[in-house]
Amino acid sequence: MSGRLSGRWVVITGASSGIGAATAVRMAREGASVLLGARRVERLEHVASRCREAGASLAEGHYLDVANVSSVRAFFDWVRAVAPGVDVLVNNAGGAHGLDPLATAKDEDWEAMVQSNLLGLARVTRACLPLMSGRSAPIVINVGSVAGHTAYEGAAMYCAVKAGVEMITRALRLELVEQGVRVGCIAPGITETEFAMVRFKGDVARARKVYEGMRPLQAEDVAEAIVWMATRPPHVCVDEMILKSTDQAEVYRVVRRGPPSTPVNPGGTAR
Ligand SMILES: NC(=O)c1ccc[n+]([C@@H]2O[C@H](COP(=O)([O-])OP(=O)(O)OC[C@H]3O[C@@H](n4cnc5c(N)ncnc54)[C@H](OP(=O)(O)O)[C@@H]3O)[C@@H](O)[C@H]2O)c1
Repeated sequence: MSGRLSGRWVVITGASSGIGAATAVRMAREGASVLLGARRVERLEHVASRCREAGASLAEGHYLDVANVSSVRAFFDWVRAVAPGVDVLVNNAGGAHGLDPLATAKDEDWEAMVQSNLLGLARVTRACLPLMSGRSAPIVINVGSVAGHTAYEGAAMYCAVKAGVEMITRALRLELVEQGVRVGCIAPGITETEFAMVRFKGDVARARKVYEGMRPLQAEDVAEAIVWMATRPPHVCVDEMILKSTDQAEVYRVVRRGPPSTPVNPGGTAR
């Protein structure tokens, strides 16, 4: 199948749900070969099969826990065995855990956020860069958040790690400019995914409230923007993109005007 990403090899972390899964399918529609990583391998297999139906040249998933050094190593051993190189890396794995003020926040929530959003992103990128060398106009796209631009209560650590993603993006762009590796970051606002279910540890009522009465972004909206970043001409780098619903003027300024949106991930469970 021909498409704007035909012949290109794409690695997406956190591809088992939400933005990562939607990005995989959208990249597949452009004819890319997609290699997907996450911990829930059954979900990954389902996404890979949707990618094949959508027109991927190849779509496969492999267990990946970005918080675990040896899992990242094993994942990239697999990528090296399957692909001739990597043209697009989408560092998407991550999320928020809890919404407690710093004074009462839990160590395990902090550790999970630092490991997945920040250290995981860094160690995945480090492992992937050798596979990007020699490819034509490769690109690293990091998924940050509006929380990396504006602080809000209960999210000190989440804001800190997403601000960190912005800084890693900028430092990496400087480090890789001579090799011609493009590095960009997308910062979405409220997007209807499993994000809120994970943050609130499976509390459906609390998760629903996040999207209540507003029209959030859908994972496909963010995926569309990521594909746009990945399909610019080789001399164009989209450094940073902020994408928000028209109902969200700022992180904490959301207009809720309508009836509640449909239930969030009705079958979703906490992990
Ligand atoms: N939804 C929003 O409102 C929003 C806004 C701004 C930014 N973001 C960011 O967008 C990204 C995707 O989130 P989402 O909204 O699509 O939520 P989601 O549906 O919960 O997806 C999160 C993905 O990250 C993966 N993941 C989490 N920890 C991981 C780990 N240690 N190793 C490997 N994979 C891991 C999950 O897979 P497994 O559990 O299967 O491993 C899942 O595929 C995150 O970085 C999030 O911070 C989301």
